[in-house]
Amino acid sequence: MRLLTILFFIFSALGADDFIEKRDYAKLLYSNPRSIGCNKCHGEDGKGMIIAYIRKKEEIRQVSAPPIDNVTKAAFFKALNSPKDIMPKYSLTNEEMEILYKYVTRRLN
Ligand code: HEC
Repeated sequence: MRLLTILFFIFSALGADDFIEKRDYAKLLYSNPRSIGCNKCHGEDGKGMIIAYIRKKEEIRQVSAPPIDNVTKAAFFKALNSPKDIMPKYSLTNEEMEILYKYVTRRLN
């Protein structure tokens, strides 16, 4: 009985580790996806942000990245597979895109 209790604690501790590792891994990938980090344009929390202001003659234009914390999975994969505008092209595997999607849309648990 005592051994079972000990085993239970060991296994639950392992489970907790796995949970933390996945989130940490996803966070790392988000800020360093083998190229410029998503956080640099979409913000740490994926809520989007203003990247720069460009002055063209008298006009001041704002360059920004949209929020990505509430997009559909299809839109997320589409954006990564065929990026538009200043969004860079990444070489991420499906597994990496999947975990990034879950991380950004707070589905990772
Ligand atoms: C240099 C800035 C920049 C970086 C870095 C960047 N993005 Fe983007 N991203 C953009 C811009 C700008 C758009 C809007 C493009 C457009 O007009 O459709 C966009 C669009 C998106 C969209 C589509 C949003 C929608 O509403 O459909 C997703 C999803 C997305 N980015 C995810 C990511 C992820 C994940 C990363 C990291 C792997 C990343 N982006 C890195 C600038 C960036």
